[in-house]
Amino acid sequence: MHSKKIFGQFLILACAALVSIAHAQKLPNVMILATGGTIAGTGASSTTTVGYTAAKIGVEALIDAVPELKKVANVKGEQVFQIASENMNNDYWLKLSKRVNTLLAQSDVDGIVITHGTDTIEETAYFLDLTVHSKKPVVIVGSMRPSTAISADGPINLYNAVLLAGSQEAIGKGVLVTLNDQINAAREVTKTNTSTLDTFKTPELGFLGYIQGSKPFFYRQSTRKHTVDSEFDISKLDVLPQVDIVYGYANMNPIALNAFVAAGAKIVRASRVGQGIVARNGEADDDKLDFVVSDTLNAQKARILLMLALTKTSDTKEIQKIFYSY
Ligand code: SIN
Repeated sequence: MHSKKIFGQFLILACAALVSIAHAQKLPNVMILATGGTIAGTGASSTTTVGYTAAKIGVEALIDAVPELKKVANVKGEQVFQIASENMNNDYWLKLSKRVNTLLAQSDVDGIVITHGTDTIEETAYFLDLTVHSKKPVVIVGSMRPSTAISADGPINLYNAVLLAGSQEAIGKGVLVTLNDQINAAREVTKTNTSTLDTFKTPELGFLGYIQGSKPFFYRQSTRKHTVDSEFDISKLDVLPQVDIVYGYANMNPIALNAFVAAGAKIVRASRVGQGIVARNGEADDDKLDFVVSDTLNAQKARILLMLALTKTSDTKEIQKIFYSY
């Protein structure tokens, strides 16, 4: 009788183990690549929301802080680098994009989450949007409060990002940025406030969608080329062409502009307004001056597209076509 009871318990345990293995097999495999930022930042106290140190805690600690991740995906972490994102540069982008392409080519990876500082998240997102050649979801996530803060936004943002990266809905949508329960397209998203949680916006054109109740909801998508439709291949590149940004203002003197050009920089005409189309031959005679206009891209994103365009051609007419396509 006693041994029968124990046998029954073993049987129940074995069934429970099988159910949990079957559940784990059904979950998507999501890789979390950590790069630093405020989401990995720590402050002196729980009320420190400015003046903290970014890029302190590692990927395993980020994952351990959100046990709920295991319910929505089989997650694995990798620390790609550990920086505050103001130190992001072309070398890091090339390394990150190559790693993402390699991982997405594997059949055991369904999606990727990249944890990142918010200062340059929009640039990294757009670089990957143009250089990752896969329909599988790539989601970039950050936070506005460090991990040690009261009501830190990192854990919920990471949970949403993993959920999104493992979802069917995010397939083929290009690289996505999520914070504050909102989903943005890499090409259009921009940081609009230095410190509020709802800082990431796609002004005028709008969010792609929301995450609510552990489910993504999409309402629109970008019409511009990205990921599998992109012609840019960085797999064999170690350096990118030099492109710099000069800010225009009243009574501007030409010293910085001339210095950049003398140093070999290539420059496109973008608008500092942040919204709307920069009209070709509108405020300048672009045909005569042999300029390229940025369409709706802000200067920091125009810089990325120009770097990649210059890996294909230096013909300004071709580059202009690229700016109207991506
Ligand atoms: C950073 O961009 O690394 C610091 C700021 C932030 O993540 O919000």
